[in-house]
Amino acid sequence: MPTTIKVDLGERAYEIRIGRQVVPGFSLETADDLRALIVSDSNVDKLYSEKCEAALQARGVETTRTAVPAGETSKDLKVIQQLLEEAVDAGLDRGSVVVALGGGMVGDLAGFLAAVLLRGVKLIQVPTTLLAMVDSSVGGKTGVNLPQGKNLAGAFYQPVEVAVDLATLETVPEREYVSGLAEVVKYGVVWDAVLFEQIENSVEGIMSRDLDVLEGIIARCCEIKAEVVSMDEREAGVRAVLNFGHTLGHAVENVAGYGELLHGEAVSIGMAYACGLSQAVKEFPEEESKRVSALLERLGLAVRARDRGLDLSWDQLRASMAADKKTRHSVLRFVLAENLGSVVFGCEVPEAVLEKVFTA
Ligand SMILES: NC(=O)c1ccc[n+]([C@@H]2O[C@H](COP(=O)([O-])OP(=O)(O)OC[C@H]3O[C@@H](n4cnc5c(N)ncnc54)[C@H](O)[C@@H]3O)[C@@H](O)[C@H]2O)c1
Repeated sequence: MPTTIKVDLGERAYEIRIGRQVVPGFSLETADDLRALIVSDSNVDKLYSEKCEAALQARGVETTRTAVPAGETSKDLKVIQQLLEEAVDAGLDRGSVVVALGGGMVGDLAGFLAAVLLRGVKLIQVPTTLLAMVDSSVGGKTGVNLPQGKNLAGAFYQPVEVAVDLATLETVPEREYVSGLAEVVKYGVVWDAVLFEQIENSVEGIMSRDLDVLEGIIARCCEIKAEVVSMDEREAGVRAVLNFGHTLGHAVENVAGYGELLHGEAVSIGMAYACGLSQAVKEFPEEESKRVSALLERLGLAVRARDRGLDLSWDQLRASMAADKKTRHSVLRFVLAENLGSVVFGCEVPEAVLEKVFTA
């Protein structure tokens, strides 16, 4: 039996199902003329599109498949235009479904497609990377990049279901998998000290991708994301806690040059920094801060830019943090930890502390 988690958003509520052999379409009322466009990328298409298509067809859904080139450059408005035209040519109508089959890139791209196609059609998220399973497929953030920056055009648009087949994790490249673990650790730090401890006690199973071990951990991460999103769908408040480590993380990603570090690799460095700031201004205990860094390192993640061979200038990082789209009225605000499993958002930190903790 798959684990089922409800995302409680009133009339836009939906279920996340997590398990082996979970297939998409469980939320659909099968009708004679239901059509779906399955969007994936060039890597995922070869591995999983046929199976996804067969599952939908078995429910009587007419399907069309399309795949964009793998990689962040496909998260682009020009690709949205192509996909819109393909969807219309394939005969999709207001009752149709877009199925996002892939990692976070496909989820964001196809999610945005679903939001704008015919002013909005149903969206099913079928995440195939760890990051997409625990983070991007749940919560409704969709969008594409602009030359000026990442995710600058998009929409909040919730799926009608999230179907997580854990077996797809077996083919995720190692570096991508490890990068996704940073977000897993994040949930423990910001919300659930018991989950944090569970991760500490399961490093071996996690690294060997033991699906029994992963099922419980991924389900707990999804539960936390679902709870936070239900409380604050549009990030007006508490949803900001999920940005723990992301202020410096985004700046590191940006200053190192996009593509140099994966998102989770940068977030890992950002989380270690946020723990340092938390020690300095929130009395976050040093031993808990050390536990966070030690866990990230045991999972194969770096906690300092220089451990990845990067010599990044503080001035550039500081300027990049100031330019972050989440910075309001040029005041930097951080999510900081008070204890493991408990954080506060919207914290200002004295300028001297920002640099001191980074150089330390
Ligand atoms: N919407 C949100 O809330 C949210 C949150 C975090 C990140 N994101 C976005 O997610 C994207 C990053 O997502 P990602 O890390 O999943 O990267 P990705 O989607 O680019 O996938 C990484 C690589 O793994 C391949 N891949 C995917 N699944 C596979 C599988 N099962 N087997 C083999 N290969 C597989 C892909 O083809 C790609 O080459 C970014 O665009 C980021 O902005 C969105």
